[in-house]
Amino acid sequence: MHVQPIQPDFAAVVSGVDLAKPTNTALVDAIWAAIDTYAVLVFHDQNLTDLRLRDFSAQFGPLEIGRSAARGGPRRLALPEIGDISNLDLNSEVRALDDRRRLDSLGNRLWHTDASYMPTPVVLGLLHAKALPPPSPFGNGETEFADMRAAYDALTPEMQAGIADLIVEHDVFWSRGQIGFTKFEPGEREQYPPSPQRLVRTHPGSKRKTLYLSAHASHVVGWPVADGRLLLLDLNAHATQSRFVYSHRWREGDLVIWDNRCTMHRGRPHDEMQPRDLRRATTLDIGSTLDEAA
Ligand code: OGA
Ligand code: MN
Repeated sequence: MHVQPIQPDFAAVVSGVDLAKPTNTALVDAIWAAIDTYAVLVFHDQNLTDLRLRDFSAQFGPLEIGRSAARGGPRRLALPEIGDISNLDLNSEVRALDDRRRLDSLGNRLWHTDASYMPTPVVLGLLHAKALPPPSPFGNGETEFADMRAAYDALTPEMQAGIADLIVEHDVFWSRGQIGFTKFEPGEREQYPPSPQRLVRTHPGSKRKTLYLSAHASHVVGWPVADGRLLLLDLNAHATQSRFVYSHRWREGDLVIWDNRCTMHRGRPHDEMQPRDLRRATTLDIGSTLDEAA
C-alpha cells in the first residue's frame, strides 16, 4: 500500500490495494494509520459491490443504518447498511426536481459532518462512486472536504480557550430548515431529537484537537440562541476557507474514506437531469462526544 499526500497532512491518495479482495487486519491497521494522519483517503479504480462495500467497511466498526433505510418501506438498495447517495428513485430513474427525498438529500450541499444530530454520532464515511454526471455549468458534483484540525490550530489561543468547553445542540431539522426543507414524515421529529455535542474534540487517533462543526449545529447550549448561532457562523466561515479544503473530483470506481470526527464535507451542484449514483457505508462511534475528555 502506497500513501501519497495531497496536502502535507490532509487528504491522500492510496494506491496498490484492491479492496474487492479480502482484506486482512494488517491492511485495515495501515488504512487506520493513514486516516489518523490525513483524515481523507482516496482509492481509485475500485470495483465494489454493495455487499463488499458493507463487509470491507464493517472491518472499521459497527455500521450505521441511515435515516432513509431506518424509515422502512421500499428502497432502491437491498442492504440497510448501504446509504443511497444518489438522485435516483426505486426504478433507478432520476428523481423529479420537487421529489421529497431529493430535497431532503440536498442538505448534503451544506458543509456538515454526518449524523452529528445523533446522540452517538458516526466516525468514518466510505463513499463509492458507481455513476457520475457529465460536467455542467453549475458544477460537476464534486465533494469538498475541510480539515477541522487545521481550522482549530489556526484559531487564536484566546478563541481556543473561549470555546474549549462549549456544548452545541445539533439538529437535522435545523440543517434542513436552512434550505427550506421542512416536509419531514410524521414521527421523524420524535425519532431524531436534537443531540448535544462538544464543540472541541480531541481526535483519539492523532490526539489533535478539532472543531466539531456541522450544518446540523444549531446553537450553543446555555447561551442565547442568536449569540450561539452567530459564533457558529463565524467558526464555519473560518473553518471552510480554501486553505483548509480539498475538493474531490470523482471518477467512477473511486472510494473516498473520511473521518467525520475531524472533517466537514459538502456535495457540489451538478446537472440534476443526469444520474449520479454513489453508495455509502458509515461506521458508528462508541459513545457521546460529551463523554470524551476535553
Ligand atoms: C455524504 C455526502 C456529498 C456528495 O455522502 O455523506 O454528504 O457529494 N455526500 O454526495
Ligand atoms: Mn454527508
